[in-house]
Amino acid sequence: MSLRGAAVRIGGRTLWSGVDLEVAAGEFVAVLGPNGVGKSTLVKVLLGVLPPAAGQVRVLGERPGEAGERVGYLPQRRSFDASLRMRGTDIVGLGWDGDRWGIPLPGRRRRAAKQRIAEVIELVGASAYANRPIGQCSGGEQQRLLIAQALVRRPQLLLLDEPLDSLDLPNQAAVAALVGRICRDEGVAVLMVAHDVNPILSRLDRVVYLAEGGAVAGTPEQVITSETLSRLYDTPVEVLRTSDGRLVVVGQPEAPAQHSDRHAEDARP
Ligand SMILES: Nc1ncnc2c1ncn2[C@@H]1O[C@H](COP(=O)(O)OP(=O)(O)OP(=O)(O)O)[C@@H](O)[C@H]1O
Ligand SMILES: [Mg+2]
Repeated sequence: MSLRGAAVRIGGRTLWSGVDLEVAAGEFVAVLGPNGVGKSTLVKVLLGVLPPAAGQVRVLGERPGEAGERVGYLPQRRSFDASLRMRGTDIVGLGWDGDRWGIPLPGRRRRAAKQRIAEVIELVGASAYANRPIGQCSGGEQQRLLIAQALVRRPQLLLLDEPLDSLDLPNQAAVAALVGRICRDEGVAVLMVAHDVNPILSRLDRVVYLAEGGAVAGTPEQVITSETLSRLYDTPVEVLRTSDGRLVVVGQPEAPAQHSDRHAEDARP
């Protein structure tokens, strides 16, 4: 996929502009930045849900939204009600025929689907709990099943919006390793929105950091530095590296919309 000079406007406000980004087959790229800066909106532009206000966007050689099942998508913040009785395998199966609304597949296609569903469940390591009702699976288990769902049609590009959200550290590491493996072994290009870069840092080819108005893309070493982020946010940002190699970003501003939201909440009794 590629973005050249891309910008997006929502409700008359430009969220970001001048975004240049290329992601090739088998590459793993992270989208980073504060809450409300427009990371999910970037994913929506790639899905063709929202047109870019400027620039060129291509996804697998097509205009956004036209690559169909060659793009796998995991939306932000999903959780299943504890009482939901659908099994993990059914949830994964929706990735195959969820757009058919219950129209049964012919026998041969049904067997192919069943085989592929079992294959991706195996790939994400979910075989042990895939037959349990999804509402009774843990957050980490649900996350793996949803990644399996996004993979079932063999996408060439995987768009994952905060897939590590709400997972504990071991599960963050496990899901990050899984995505890294899918990327490397299956040649799938991955664009992952992440709140914390550390669980995926060692696997990333490139990152794009979004800020109000602008963006910078490059290798993590180029982008996640005090100099680059201070320039991007036009305020002193300090990047510290801990002895175990983790990056800590201090002083990164919040997006203005987030400020007003939070203050509105603070004002409540
Ligand atoms: N349909 C919409 N109408 C109006 N404003 C919207 C709409 N969708 C998103 N926004 C606003 O656009 C901004 C960016 O939203 P987006 O969801 O892309 O942020 P984000 O970077 O993904 O944030 P987070 O880290 O909280 O997920 C926010 O200020 C949000 O309120
Ligand atoms: Mg988001």
